[in-house]
Amino acid sequence: MDRGLEAAVLVTGGAGYIGAHTAKALHERGLTPVIYDSLSSGYREAVRWGHFVQGDIRDGRALADTIQAHGVTAAIHFAGLIEVGRSVARPDLFWEHNVAGTVTLLSALSEHGVGRLVFSSSAAVYGQGGRGPLETIPEDAVKAPASPYGDTKLACERMIEAQCAAYGLTAVALRYFNAAGADPSGLIGEAHEPETHLIPLAIAAALGEGPPLTVFGTDFDTPDGSCLRDYIHVNDLAAAHVAALEADLPQGAFEAVNVGTGYGASVLQVVGAVGRAVGRPVPYTIGARRTGDPASLVADVARAGSLLDWTPKSSSLDRIVADALRWERCPCYGSGRRSAGKQHGAEAAV
Ligand code: UFG
Repeated sequence: MDRGLEAAVLVTGGAGYIGAHTAKALHERGLTPVIYDSLSSGYREAVRWGHFVQGDIRDGRALADTIQAHGVTAAIHFAGLIEVGRSVARPDLFWEHNVAGTVTLLSALSEHGVGRLVFSSSAAVYGQGGRGPLETIPEDAVKAPASPYGDTKLACERMIEAQCAAYGLTAVALRYFNAAGADPSGLIGEAHEPETHLIPLAIAAALGEGPPLTVFGTDFDTPDGSCLRDYIHVNDLAAAHVAALEADLPQGAFEAVNVGTGYGASVLQVVGAVGRAVGRPVPYTIGARRTGDPASLVADVARAGSLLDWTPKSSSLDRIVADALRWERCPCYGSGRRSAGKQHGAEAAV
């Protein structure tokens, strides 16, 4: 992308977890994030760098006005719904927000000559896909999403690829594995409502601020029987977005790139790491498998190295857990999220 002085980057969903960490990374790189977020699940307190516009991803007029008003030259698109389980119950909402929202954004970008896009995709596009449980996943692996959430991410990737071919947009889809941790500043961190992710729930259990953790299955075909995931520090993920924005790609190129570490940690290993960090074991029970959970999701990360010149720097499990724990002990926002029964809005930010 043309970096120019103070180049403005539209960050849809920039008040969410990964979006806020990416906004900070853009700012540190000398770019100006223009955060566009409905705040239905993002937090105004998470917007500390750049400009803020409150708006819905399905509102093409507001997107166009924002692009024009701030002289946007590139975009990073996080806005969308993210809860896999909810996507099974409400696929219509996921197609509307994730797919129709992306159509609206793409139109606004092409209408205003914005030629560069980084898209927030997911390892959910792969599903288990006939892989052995210990195999890493390259980008050209079989795509067999196990949920409507994964379907919408794959549909968006295909639409963006076609848009690149048709209009000369240059785009990178980053397929995240398991984002975790928090910025060491303590200013921003993970705050989902409701929280469903392993590390914050394990920390809450160990701190006595949440119920005992349920481990979803220990009968998988993995070394200790619990699921293997590839946990990536959210700041490494943020750095991958900046690298994707600046990658030297020909106009009209579309690239899909895994963002993970290449190493799997089991649920029971995470439980052990959290117990060590807190200084008290995580209380847990063993429950049934969660519907749609593949036994193992571990990235092949060769492409991220060769195409983006990116490697993870902060993603040891102990470092991720230490940073997550610092945040969970003293979150700047979202601390009411563990209270039962709080309803979330229709629009979310990753
Ligand atoms: N887990 C438990 N107990 C819990 C919560 C999670 O045992 O209370 C387990 C899950 O079964 C899984 C692992 O911990 O094996 C990680 O679960 P998370 O919910 O933290 O994360 P997921 O792997 O389910 O989800 C992540 C992203 C999604 C993305 C998905 C792709 O958060 O956005 O990977 O499969 F869609």
